[in-house]
Amino acid sequence: MHALVTGAAGFIGSHLTEALAAAGARVRAIDAFTDSYDPAVKRANAAQAGVPVVAADLAVADLDGLLDGVDVVFHLAGQPGVRPSWSSGFSRYLDANVLATQRVLEAVREREGVRIVYASSSSVYGQAPRYPTSEDDLPAPHSPYGVTKLAGEHLCGLYAANHGVDTVALRYFSVYGPRQRPDMGLHRFCEAALDDKPLPLYGTGEQVRDVTYVGDVVAATMAAATAPLPPAAVLNVAGGGAVSVNVLLDLIADLVGRDLRIERLPEQPGDVAATGGTTDRARDLLGWRPRTDLAEGLAAQLAWHQAQRSC
Ligand SMILES: NC(=O)c1ccc[n+]([C@@H]2O[C@H](COP(=O)([O-])OP(=O)(O)OC[C@H]3O[C@@H](n4cnc5c(N)ncnc54)[C@H](O)[C@@H]3O)[C@@H](O)[C@H]2O)c1
Repeated sequence: MHALVTGAAGFIGSHLTEALAAAGARVRAIDAFTDSYDPAVKRANAAQAGVPVVAADLAVADLDGLLDGVDVVFHLAGQPGVRPSWSSGFSRYLDANVLATQRVLEAVREREGVRIVYASSSSVYGQAPRYPTSEDDLPAPHSPYGVTKLAGEHLCGLYAANHGVDTVALRYFSVYGPRQRPDMGLHRFCEAALDDKPLPLYGTGEQVRDVTYVGDVVAATMAAATAPLPPAAVLNVAGGGAVSVNVLLDLIADLVGRDLRIERLPEQPGDVAATGGTTDRARDLLGWRPRTDLAEGLAAQLAWHQAQRSC
């Protein structure tokens, strides 16, 4: 396999690049090192990726050059996060999630035999009609971020239908583990728990999340590169069991060995009450299932936070 990974200095992209390189794939890795969070963190991620991560912005990069010889594009570059996607923040989401995806698809359009694995999101479901939610349920995003991720999926679907581009969209459900983005809940919870500082919690904590360990996400993403799939396939990549945020907090408290100091804040616009995805399709088509036990995955993430402190 000769792969191009976009977003390779990000949380998931750096793990994917590392795993591909370790598996013997030829990997070209790029990232724009945007300031969505501290670029120094992204450089540290890139240093773990196993191959050099070249600075390139999909908005302007010469994609033809980047695609030479490539047979799989893992398109993970994007602007994630629900809360900053409102208001003037939206244009950034349009550029990183919609325009960049269209540029990748356009560049692949004239090439034979290139598969695009697109990192989509459970946020496309919004307040889903039922849980766990299946890929056949109608997506109805509840945030501007979710709208842009769904737009990326639709772009994949229409380039597949009109131009025969080989695409698969993976709907990742709240990914966690070492290197998790600093804006994400579990990252903030682990840091506050280790510092014994007040831990800001939006909403009651009864909101339910299907969390997926990053190693499992990487395994599904790699499997999606080569599995026989129907055109424009869409697959959930979920953790296989949803828990409330309060339960996650209890698990972190157990791991650090003390009670957490929780500062309750109002629910935020765009947040959904629950996420939860069926994984039957990913099992049938990719031979994949989530394997990491929640307590084990959280312990790995917490150990990473602790290791960062001793660097
Ligand atoms: N982390 C999750 O729980 C989660 C859940 C669902 C979907 N996703 C999707 O998975 C992907 C990776 O998420 P992550 O959590 O690793 O995010 P991340 O922010 O850590 O990584 C994304 C990377 O993309 C890069 N990037 C942004 N715009 C770019 C551009 N124009 N050109 C090149 N690089 C660019 C950023 O610099 C960043 O390093 C994203 O597309 C995100 O929407 C993530």
